[in-house]
Amino acid sequence: MAIMRLDKALSMTGMTRAEARKAVAAGRVQAGGTAVRDPGFKAEPANILLDGQPIDAPEHIYVMLNKPAGIVTATEDSRWQTVLSLMPEHIARRRPGPVGRLDRDVTGLVLLTDDGQLAHRLISPRTKAEKVYLAECEGALDAEDTALFASGMALSDFTAKPAKLDILSSGDTSRALVTLTEGKFHQVKRMFAAAGHPLLRLRRLSIGGVKLDESLDEGEWRMLTDEEVEILRAVR
Ligand code: URA
Repeated sequence: MAIMRLDKALSMTGMTRAEARKAVAAGRVQAGGTAVRDPGFKAEPANILLDGQPIDAPEHIYVMLNKPAGIVTATEDSRWQTVLSLMPEHIARRRPGPVGRLDRDVTGLVLLTDDGQLAHRLISPRTKAEKVYLAECEGALDAEDTALFASGMALSDFTAKPAKLDILSSGDTSRALVTLTEGKFHQVKRMFAAAGHPLLRLRRLSIGGVKLDESLDEGEWRMLTDEEVEILRAVR
């Protein structure tokens, strides 16, 4: 891209010119490796950093977040802290939306993107994006529960599509991996409740073949790699 004023280059990332000038004055902007405090300074956008991040931003951003409990999967909420509030300003400014929802008490993988087309396709009921959850429930799970999940459970207002239940441990409480291609409201909780095993904990481990990065603590995030974005694009 052509050489241009810092304030103009920054405004192309979604900032107003006034915000851009303030950011420059505050020393948050570097051009060619050094902080520059003159908004009229001219540089190539590819050589400009804001808060240490390149501003020559890609067309879309794709983020994976390890969602903690107590946070809502929304961009705005009047009562609760949102997943967007866990993002730094340069990401939040692009208003990436969550791909589907996790309940407030559920933890694990949330994808956020400003690629509306991909997000829409991944949450469409026509797309078979598999979601894998680690569930901990009351009581001893057994082969009958696996068969029940596989049969397509009738819930009060819909019949769930066949789901896979892999039992990891069984006793006073049990742990299992659950694989679904749907994402109806409280679906996993409702399936376990209907099977007589109320859920104690639920954590999402993967979406459409993209796995939660185990090195992310709860509340931490990272950008998806190009390979992970390709995996999501290939989901049919
Ligand atoms: N199923 C649920 O019950 N809750 C979630 O957050 C996701 C799936």
